Amino acid sequence: MKKLIAMLLALVMVMALAACGGAPAEEPAPTPAPEAPAADAPATEAPEAEAPAEEGGEAIVVGFAQVGHESDWRTANTKDYQTVFSAENGYDLIFVDCDNDNAVQIEAVRSSIQQGVDYIILAPIQSAGWESVLQEAQDAGIPVIVADRQVDADASMYDAFIGTDTKVEGVLAGNWLAEYLNGAEAKILVIEGTIGSSAAIGRTDGFNEVAAEHPEWTILDSQSGDFTQAGGQAVMESYIKSYTDFNVVVCQNDNEAYGAMDAMDAAGITYGVDGDVIIISYDATHDGLQYTLDGKIHCNVECNPIQAQYVADIIQQMENGEEFATYTLVEDQAFVAPGIESEYAITMTQEILDGRAY
Ligand code: AHR
Repeated sequence: MKKLIAMLLALVMVMALAACGGAPAEEPAPTPAPEAPAADAPATEAPEAEAPAEEGGEAIVVGFAQVGHESDWRTANTKDYQTVFSAENGYDLIFVDCDNDNAVQIEAVRSSIQQGVDYIILAPIQSAGWESVLQEAQDAGIPVIVADRQVDADASMYDAFIGTDTKVEGVLAGNWLAEYLNGAEAKILVIEGTIGSSAAIGRTDGFNEVAAEHPEWTILDSQSGDFTQAGGQAVMESYIKSYTDFNVVVCQNDNEAYGAMDAMDAAGITYGVDGDVIIISYDATHDGLQYTLDGKIHCNVECNPIQAQYVADIIQQMENGEEFATYTLVEDQAFVAPGIESEYAITMTQEILDGRAY
């Protein structure tokens, strides 16, 4: 098991701001991003997983309110939690798949409070509306770790955050497009993620920030595909009916990109490095990177789902009464199709794909 955790962790680089002690950092600021590794660089050395505090003793009970199962990314993220928070590692994980339903998720957290779990992990579907239930957790003395996506609630309402900076991901996608187009006109269709999720909000804001600097770009439309393949396909089908002249499709995750490609295939629209339409995707899961390597997706901005060990480390530090990081960013990179050189992204190779565990 430790070997597997070590292998998974070898695939990520993390920036952690240690705002020490139990109080969250007031103004979280990530440490500088590490250099992107060369394709032939050895894997990053895996951090050692801390030994469970209660090895051989009572399990640590953790309630996990997970978003759902909407994407390949989510499946990888869930698997990672189930591996790290195993009985073998000293945990009793009460896992709830909230099926992308905000009301269900609020009730899942409330149920964890009622069950008197030791810790709550919340991967929020939407960023708004968490104040009351976070207050209830605080009143019950149960630490809450917000993971993957952000909440709007003040940082004093929870104990730690671990995830990716999705606005940075959006800016990265925009910067890559500007570099690639080099002043050429862009007519852009965006397929957003789940409405109200910090992942969709961050990617949209970040990309729009770059777009605002490019008068030669027009964002024709921006609608939600709910981070699903079916959603991506439905939105693309409706775009194809409404717009005949576009040359860029931005999909806010890989599954939406698969759906969009299916819709374009059916309509006889070509895409990829040999086609008419540039596709940008996010997540950089294994299959998404296969499409990137195949030249179908031009640029794929990573969102790393391997986050559970960082959460477990914080729980162990809390258990031991040690200082812990209240704001941890998991580092992202971007990948581009073979033949594209970029200062913002790594050119895909078979070797990179072979090293992708999720
Ligand atoms: O919050 C992370 C996002 O949620 C991923 O990009 C997406 O695939 C998932 O559903």
